Amino acid sequence: MPGLESVSEWTRGYLGGTRDLLIGGEWVPAQSGRRFEVIDPASEDVIANVAEGAAADVDLAVKAARRAFESPAWARMPGAERARLIWALADRLEAEAEKIAELETLDNGMPIGVARGAVVPLSADVFRYMAGWATKLEGRTIPLDVPPQPDAEFFAYTLRQPIGVVGQIVPWNFPLFMTSWKVAPALATGCTIVLKPAEQTPLTALFLGELMTEVGFPDGVINVVPGFGETAGAALADHPDVDKVTFTGSTEVGRQIVRASAGNLKKVALELGGKSPNIVFDDADLPAAIAGSADAVFFNAGQNCVAGARLFVQEGAYDELVAGLAERAAALRVGPGLAPDSEVGPLVSAEQLERVTGYMGAATEEGAKLVAGGGRLGERGFFVEPTILTDVAPDMRFMREEIFGPVVGVTRFTDLDDLVARANDTAFGLAAGIWTRDVSRVHKLAPRLDVGTVWVNTYSLNASALPFGGFKQSGWGKELGEEGVSSYLQTKSVCIGL
Ligand code: NAI
Ligand code: MG
Repeated sequence: MPGLESVSEWTRGYLGGTRDLLIGGEWVPAQSGRRFEVIDPASEDVIANVAEGAAADVDLAVKAARRAFESPAWARMPGAERARLIWALADRLEAEAEKIAELETLDNGMPIGVARGAVVPLSADVFRYMAGWATKLEGRTIPLDVPPQPDAEFFAYTLRQPIGVVGQIVPWNFPLFMTSWKVAPALATGCTIVLKPAEQTPLTALFLGELMTEVGFPDGVINVVPGFGETAGAALADHPDVDKVTFTGSTEVGRQIVRASAGNLKKVALELGGKSPNIVFDDADLPAAIAGSADAVFFNAGQNCVAGARLFVQEGAYDELVAGLAERAAALRVGPGLAPDSEVGPLVSAEQLERVTGYMGAATEEGAKLVAGGGRLGERGFFVEPTILTDVAPDMRFMREEIFGPVVGVTRFTDLDDLVARANDTAFGLAAGIWTRDVSRVHKLAPRLDVGTVWVNTYSLNASALPFGGFKQSGWGKELGEEGVSSYLQTKSVCIGL
């Protein structure tokens, strides 16, 4: 199995080096002196040791971020200069694509082709898109008529100003890409950042910190504090001098973050789980729908918040679709991300392996029928089989909860109203897919789905300009696009009596 010996000398050196916290422009060990191990999910080998930040380190990082936020070097930096730095960072990400790809694959497990060909270019694109906004943070002039003062004249306008120090808590499923969604708009708007990567995948966040220092962001604009959720993450969510916390992860932790934010009423943005419906009509381009529906749930081993985990197929297409999907599932090459022909890597951790295989077992015990996969693959590495279940009922546990693995439950439908009711019968509301050639059906159905994103004849497509974020218990607020930029700004109304 390809492992550490197959990566570049640079990557081995980076992993073997002292990976500390980035606070106020300095690389420093944790106050406690503690470090934690980083594991390659394909081999289960320990590949690095990283300083383990906790409350004391988060406090130092918040102080550094506050100083940077108030420093003229950042607060008075022209938007065009912020844009130049952000653009330069995007260039550096692309120039270092190979290093980033190796780090991301060793850390998260994803196929190296995905890291190199999707994660890096998409992340660079988010930075470039957001760089453009740094010079376009405009308020409005607002005509005022005030009834009790009919003769008075006013001049009123709005300013849009950065929220301040932002705590960013990132998950492990797409480490660099999810980090980019949060870091790029914060930089474009002039906020400062305390970034806490997931404990499973701290490596590319640390490397991003290096690249940011190198391109010339002032000290303290970004601080990177790897550590565990219950300690470092919780301290950030609770900190009285953090103005906003933005979190991507589980719904359970999302609720804890809301509670922790109450102390200083910091602003909260949440991108949480999903149980997204993917709907195939019988007039669809079925080969495309089969390939797309497989990707929707097997891509990144299903560790995808928008995974199309509930597949609804119209009666006339059902047999062909299930057969095609089963063929895809069986053909997918599951293997180490560093092996060039792997299409699906391992799950990120032993904990996730246990979770996902637990859901697989429970599904068949509850009476679902296994059409493909169903369990762990091999004995070393956290690999699982792409899994398809039919004969599923909407109240089965695995059809209601987010699995975050390559597991799809397939059901059939005939009537449209019944389909809409079933698709919306979930606490989540992140995304949905529709496969059809009927344009009028698309426009009738899309507004009726209680989700933040609807994909038609495609799935899982994220673009920097397209707002992303969930309805219902899938979250609060949007990332990306103009709304994503606005979420790092606050509006100040200025009213002048003339
Ligand atoms: P998690 O929600 O615990 O972890 C996500 C991030 O939150 C990590 O950086 C973690 O350190 C941090 N965190 C954990 N507890 C925290 C706390 N009390 N205060 C502040 N930050 C905290 O997710 P976990 O346990 O790794 O995975 C469990 C499930 O969560 C997955 O099976 C999946 O269903 C869901 N999940 C969803 C993601 C999404 O993209 N929406 C991403 C990751 C997990
Ligand atoms: Mg957790």
